[in-house]
Amino acid sequence: MTLFTRRGLLKTAAIAGAGGVGLSAMMGRLGGWAASAEPVVLQTARIQATLMDVGQTKDVLTYGSAGMPPVLRMKKGEPFAARLVNGIDDPTTIHWHGVRVPNKMDGVPFLVQPYVYQGDHFDYAFTPPDAGTFWYHPHCNTLAQMGHGLTGVIVVENPADPKFDAEIVLNLRDWRLGDDGQFIDQFRPRDAARTGTYGTVRTANWLDQPRYDAPAGGLARLRVAITDVTRIYAFRVDGADATVIALDGNPVPERFAPDALLLGPGQRLELAIRMPDEEGAVVSLRDVRGTKPKVLATLRATGTSLKRDIRDVAPLEVNPVPEVDLSTAAHISLALSATAENMPTDGICGSLGYSFWAINKVPWSGDTPDPTAPLAEMKLGKSYVIDMENLTPQSHPMHLHGMSFKVLSSSTRQVQPLISDTYLLQPNEKVSLGLVADNPGDWLLHCHIIEHQKSGMTSYVRVV
Ligand code: C2O
Ligand code: CU
Repeated sequence: MTLFTRRGLLKTAAIAGAGGVGLSAMMGRLGGWAASAEPVVLQTARIQATLMDVGQTKDVLTYGSAGMPPVLRMKKGEPFAARLVNGIDDPTTIHWHGVRVPNKMDGVPFLVQPYVYQGDHFDYAFTPPDAGTFWYHPHCNTLAQMGHGLTGVIVVENPADPKFDAEIVLNLRDWRLGDDGQFIDQFRPRDAARTGTYGTVRTANWLDQPRYDAPAGGLARLRVAITDVTRIYAFRVDGADATVIALDGNPVPERFAPDALLLGPGQRLELAIRMPDEEGAVVSLRDVRGTKPKVLATLRATGTSLKRDIRDVAPLEVNPVPEVDLSTAAHISLALSATAENMPTDGICGSLGYSFWAINKVPWSGDTPDPTAPLAEMKLGKSYVIDMENLTPQSHPMHLHGMSFKVLSSSTRQVQPLISDTYLLQPNEKVSLGLVADNPGDWLLHCHIIEHQKSGMTSYVRVV
């Protein structure tokens, strides 16, 4: 008797994925099955938390009952399930940023699922096809909900990963708090029309410069997710040899030292760090961008040296993302620009009340795009190149849901052929991103500076 299990199906799909349509297309078609995994309960809650010395901050949002949203651990190719229970008086959803899930599980209200109102729940179930660092957040009233705390990190483990002596996960974000430690206005319109409004208190894992221990002379894996709504970071590591092993959930083709590496909201960085030999030596991860550089977190060497060599970190397994076929790819041109047209009306997921930005001259307001017309209709299984041009003097971390792309070329810099879901376009940069439209459904494409997202720089593509 043949047992046609879900795992069996996935294996077949993974093999087919090497040359064919790919795993996620398969998942998309099979989407909606009930996972056998025990669901993790993610209940939104309004709590108090200590984010400043002056005392507790009220009106902080989290999943769970206290502190930062949990780091969710999943396994590549194994079913995961979560039940979102909404405990706050604002509709919400969960989006699994960078995880290639079936469309119905993508968490975009109106486009793919209903809003989850207070007291209601929604069950998510999917099998992550890729290993790496990802994150999760609401996709409704995002500026308020994410700004107040609803951003958590996802680690998708791969049993075939190289062995490290320590693993540290960092959730980087800011908070807009006044001197009394309480929330102040989430944004200023004139900043929303420029870089976005920065927070006033900068944290890693909701702490100011936390310190973690790692074995002296050992190899530490640092997983960093930028979950802030605005801030772009320039990363450096001081006090140890460090090398970038993965970006945005995918191994980098060639490793390099993070020397002021620029990454924007939504992006993730994985570093291998060779800890110093002397006990007590301190390694720091710094943000060196702008006028106020900051130590984000430190690692302290403990014990006698393990004497490991950073060159011993074996390559990470490449994720099963189908290879774009440039000989048959159709091109899609997208222009990012500023606008002052179309005042948005208030929607259920909140509006900032302004239109500042547009994609191909159309400003889309709110967290969910106007359902009337996708930016492009893509044919399932076909290759595409998105030629995206930034006509503005600001940077925009552009994020595509549901599918991973390959960075093909940039008009302003040398790029590695990175596989990613979020690309940080510099002012006046033009970039080409290649992908196979292997996941059916409606997929958002938006800037991850949330004020930009909510004041026009959002749209979607349709794969049929
Ligand atoms: Cu991080 Cu539309 O999402
Ligand atoms: Cu932007």
